[in-house]
Amino acid sequence: MAKIFAFIFFLFSVAVATEEEITISISPKANPVQKPIGHQISLVCSVKGAGDEKPGMIWKKHGGLDRTGNVEVKKLDENNLGLIIRNSSVEDSGVYYCHAQVGSKKYMNKMDVIVFEDIVFSDKQLHLGQVLATASVNISCEVSAKKDSVITYWTRHGKQVLEGGKHKFYKGGAILEIQNYQPEQDAGQYTCEVFHVSSGSSNTKTVTLGTTVEKNYVACHQMCNSFCTDVQNKFFTSN
Ligand SMILES: *[C@@H]1O[C@H](CO)[C@@H](O)[C@H](O)[C@H]1NC(C)=O
Ligand SMILES: *[C@@H]1O[C@H](CO)[C@@H](O)[C@H](O)[C@H]1NC(C)=O
Repeated sequence: MAKIFAFIFFLFSVAVATEEEITISISPKANPVQKPIGHQISLVCSVKGAGDEKPGMIWKKHGGLDRTGNVEVKKLDENNLGLIIRNSSVEDSGVYYCHAQVGSKKYMNKMDVIVFEDIVFSDKQLHLGQVLATASVNISCEVSAKKDSVITYWTRHGKQVLEGGKHKFYKGGAILEIQNYQPEQDAGQYTCEVFHVSSGSSNTKTVTLGTTVEKNYVACHQMCNSFCTDVQNKFFTSN
């Protein structure tokens, strides 16, 4: 009797062991997969431990696998199903599911794919030397991405630059025009931060305006101002 039980137990463990061996995985191992627009992305879904049984395998994505015309599925062999995204676009981002069936058992794994806009500044110039007094000057933070899909945030020495007065924006804020340039007021560093909202990418550029002497004068002036404000605050609050 004990022998029969032992035998049944043995069969049971073998059955459990073989079932536990079946795994479904997606390569690359890093999740999520992140690539800039236009790159080719490949995922491989693999079923291991199925033995002689041929798994049924399929790739899926919410709303349809290939809405952009960039996705191709390739059966590499009985246990490996590839998915290739050629010339990827932001719309190809999302969760890709690999489903497999071995006998009556179903398996699933998933992978996040993030395709982001690579933000490259069109104008590479980071220093505009001497600008004539009373002239107008443009600082460009135009980028490779579509204009309507980015937000540009301008600062000067840490303070936001808004439209109005001598500051005018063009091309949805991508170009800052400084009118009636006064070296002793307007020289210095201008920083733009460009946000590509739908993909979550951003990039920053700082452009320096004016000669070294002018920049130093403005910086010194600002330091004096904040020093005087400090002293003033201390003086009045201590009274
Ligand atoms: C890649 O996609 C972009 C826009 O979706 C298109 O303009 C470009 O021609 C495509 N490039 C190739 C090599 O298919
Ligand atoms: C700045 O750029 C805008 C838009 O391209 C243009 O209309 C304007 O004349 C430029 N200003 C200067 C000073 O170049």
